[in-house]
Amino acid sequence: MNIIDVSTASPYPVITGCGLLEETGEYIKHYVPRAETVAVITDDTVAALYGDRITASLRAAGLRVIRCVIPHGEASKTAAAYLEILQFLAQEQLTRSDAVVALGGGVVGDLAGFAAATYLRGIDYVQIPTTLLAQVDSSVGGKTAVDLPAGKNLAGAFYQPRLVLCDAETLRTLPAHVFADGCAEVIKYGILWDEDLFEHLRARGTDFDREYVIPRCIELKRDVVVEDEFDRGSRRLLNLGHTLAHAVEKLSDYRISHGNAVAMGIAAITRAAAEQGYCSRECAGRIEEILLRFGLPAGFEDSEVHIGINDIYESVLADKKRRGGRISLIIPREIGDCEIRTMSLEEMKVFLEAAL
Ligand code: NAD
Ligand code: GLY
Repeated sequence: MNIIDVSTASPYPVITGCGLLEETGEYIKHYVPRAETVAVITDDTVAALYGDRITASLRAAGLRVIRCVIPHGEASKTAAAYLEILQFLAQEQLTRSDAVVALGGGVVGDLAGFAAATYLRGIDYVQIPTTLLAQVDSSVGGKTAVDLPAGKNLAGAFYQPRLVLCDAETLRTLPAHVFADGCAEVIKYGILWDEDLFEHLRARGTDFDREYVIPRCIELKRDVVVEDEFDRGSRRLLNLGHTLAHAVEKLSDYRISHGNAVAMGIAAITRAAAEQGYCSRECAGRIEEILLRFGLPAGFEDSEVHIGINDIYESVLADKKRRGGRISLIIPREIGDCEIRTMSLEEMKVFLEAAL
């Protein structure tokens, strides 16, 4: 077991280890001591795999358990699903001293987190991430959101959990393509801040050392979240590849998963950076090679959706990272070192045209 403390204004631990699900009840008793009822929000796939185990642990700790199960997948990250969860919490008379548990991947975490942030103007919640992506990224840092028809994550809140429990055993049931989605975010940390991590991943591929890689990624995320909790400065580096990724997700009606879209976005931005001399061709080659090694797309060429520069331009207009007529793109300089470059939308068009 490993504890990584996140010292945001409202601090909390991220606990990693094996067999933590069975101890959920005890952890919640300790970190959310006032809770009498726990509302477990999860999706149908995760409910079937882990719902009973977690319920048994919570009940054994003397807690009343209620459960809200949503259909799996990004299509559930909507305002409608969010309102349904709020209605459910209200009907079950959850009070301010009770707690929400988000059990699942990034979709459940973002959605349940947003419900917790706003129900009764905010009640405690615990993240129990069950995908690699959610363990290394979305469960840490308090970004919660739903998608709107106009774009991804357009309604949400910064709202930190009381506790994050990452049980490595849950990753065993992940389908390979969902695991690969998480690998895109893991590779992203290497490109942003840690060449040793990048090299370990390059050498080992999907057989990487999880006991080293998962806590290392969480530490890197913790450090940037503590430095810039509200995403006004260095935290924006985490958006490497994301402006393009969000466009791809929306244009594909969310058939292309977040992790795959992030891989495409990283590949494209790196290619554009190399074309224009911001990074070397060798650096771009290393990034392309590692994405392919993990079975991730290294560009838009084989994508089921055709992405043109105008599609991206339209999508960026609805991107929450836009500030008036300007957008910040994250550009690799070398492995372990990226920069935030703010440019006009017209400059962005010219910059990205090189990559498409
Ligand atoms: P997801 O939540 O849709 O999970 C992927 C699939 O895996 C789902 O079908 C789910 O039912 C299944 N699953 C989950 N755990 C499982 C397990 N242990 N065994 C078997 N199947 C399991 O997708 P995701 O990739 O976890 O998350 C993507 C979402 O996260 C996107 O909406 C993205 O925007 C968001 N995100 C948020 C942040 C943040 O900071 N809040 C960061 C990155 C991504
Ligand atoms: N994954 C983006 C962030 O947490 O800022």
